[in-house]
Amino acid sequence: MTVLRLFVFLIFIVGQAMEMASKLLAARNMNDSSHPDAFRVDKRTIGFDPVLQYVSITGEHAFLPPGPGDKRGPCPGLNVLANHGYIPHDGNTTIDQVVKGAYEVFGMGRDLALALAVYSTALDGDITTLSFSIGEGYLDSGSILSPVLSQNGLTGSHNNFEADVSPTRGDLFEYGNNHDVQMIQFSQLYNLQSNISDPSQDNYDIPLLTSFRASRFQQSIENNPDFFNGPLTGIFVQPAAYQFIFHFVANKSEEYPEGRLGRDVLKSFFAITGPDDDLVYNPGHERIPDNWYKRAKGDDYDLASFLHEVCIIALANPRFLSVGGNTGQVNTFTGVNFADLTGGVFNAETLLEGNNVGCYVLQTLVMALPTSPAGKLESLRTELLGNVDAMLKTWNCPILEKIDNSLLEQFPGYSRYPGNRVA
Ligand code: HEM
Ligand SMILES: *[C@@H]1O[C@H](CO)[C@@H](O)[C@H](O)[C@H]1NC(C)=O
Ligand SMILES: *[C@@H]1O[C@H](CO)[C@@H](O)[C@H](O)[C@H]1NC(C)=O
Ligand SMILES: *[C@@H]1O[C@H](CO)[C@@H](O)[C@H](O)[C@H]1NC(C)=O
Ligand SMILES: *[C@@H]1O[C@H](CO)[C@@H](O)[C@H](O)[C@H]1NC(C)=O
Repeated sequence: MTVLRLFVFLIFIVGQAMEMASKLLAARNMNDSSHPDAFRVDKRTIGFDPVLQYVSITGEHAFLPPGPGDKRGPCPGLNVLANHGYIPHDGNTTIDQVVKGAYEVFGMGRDLALALAVYSTALDGDITTLSFSIGEGYLDSGSILSPVLSQNGLTGSHNNFEADVSPTRGDLFEYGNNHDVQMIQFSQLYNLQSNISDPSQDNYDIPLLTSFRASRFQQSIENNPDFFNGPLTGIFVQPAAYQFIFHFVANKSEEYPEGRLGRDVLKSFFAITGPDDDLVYNPGHERIPDNWYKRAKGDDYDLASFLHEVCIIALANPRFLSVGGNTGQVNTFTGVNFADLTGGVFNAETLLEGNNVGCYVLQTLVMALPTSPAGKLESLRTELLGNVDAMLKTWNCPILEKIDNSLLEQFPGYSRYPGNRVA
């Protein structure tokens, strides 16, 4: 009798455990950032083709580090494209060139590359030639004593595009430099390797990068008196800087169609050489390693996949959505009220629902673009707005009318350097 009872009880427990496990697995599929399917919007992994996914680094695409006058900046992806001749070697790229290069080498979706490139050109580049510098701006007119910049370039894009809490680059007001790798930051990331006993197994994946981002966020609060987490830079640029590392840099293979990012590949794309105990940074030498494979054809990482992933990560880390900053001393982080910032359209709770972070980002991005750029940018801008409108409809987005930037004046990291955003 007792034995039978025990047996029935055990069956019950096992059944419960299995049901729980399958529920947990289902939840993982939906929610867990460690599960690759969590990020597919309406896509699936479509296998691996070594011929189509191999990236050439010979002939015209042989590695050539920058020489005098060549620009390199805060984006390792763009630096690597210039070093391998996928965009001009001098670091002055047109929108078309960079959209093509980012697709060819990384499988970045056209809509995502276009959004980044149009935004960069409109705010920090040259709208008459549809080009921008991936590093320092260009001097145009003025005298030798008071030169005038014709464009900021990405290095000069602080608070427009370039932002605090970057993975490997320092906060501008902490280091006086926003474009070089800070070895202390790179080493922190590097040392998070998941399998120190067997390096062939390590993987700098999204969960690892997300926890690194959380610790970087805290470091900015603790070390940068002028830390500023901007309404667009904090919610759009900052996650891109982390998510791009895995989705674009990871080496794809039959075994890992979504990619596996080991330490040697990470080092190469971040211009680092040397053994674990003697890492050396060679500024501007970002390099595609031999035998490296990009994303599968048809599996582009695009605006929807990126923003959907931003939402999932924010749900587990709502702090990433705090727009605000330190108020001139370390450990004084103050967030602005999201409802006040958005005229009541979003608040801290509704922002976490569905794809609302994506809704917010898309509309904030569009608002930041000048409304009437000179002629040539117009058709690319129209294409971008079309992509955005379609996504806003699909996601049933609440409509955002304005961002109240006056709330940001209290943060020295903003008021000292407000950027040239229109919104
Ligand atoms: C298509 C046009 C692109 C533009 C205009 C662009 C621009 C930028 C800018 C301005 C930053 C600095 C953001 C910050 O302060 O954190 C940045 C960071 C970054 N970008 Fe790009 N990017 C582009 C494409 C790419 C691509 C194709 C990759 C692929 C690997 C990439 C990977 C990264 C990474 C990993 C960072 C973070 C660097 C760090 O701090 O460690 N980007 N990008
Ligand atoms: C995903 O997470 C949210 C919030 O934690 C939860 O409400 C939802 O039930 C989860 N989805 C699944 C399929 O478990
Ligand atoms: C950048 O490239 C564009 C397109 O090739 C060109 O028209 C422009 O003059 C270049 N700008 C600089 C500063 O070299
Ligand atoms: C590390 O790699 C070894 C050998 O491949 C493997 O047995 C072990 O499970 C891995 N550990 C982790 C934490 O991935
Ligand atoms: C990418 O993965 C393939 C398959 O595992 C491997 O042969 C190749 O060496 C890897 N490339 C790099 C740069 O690690």
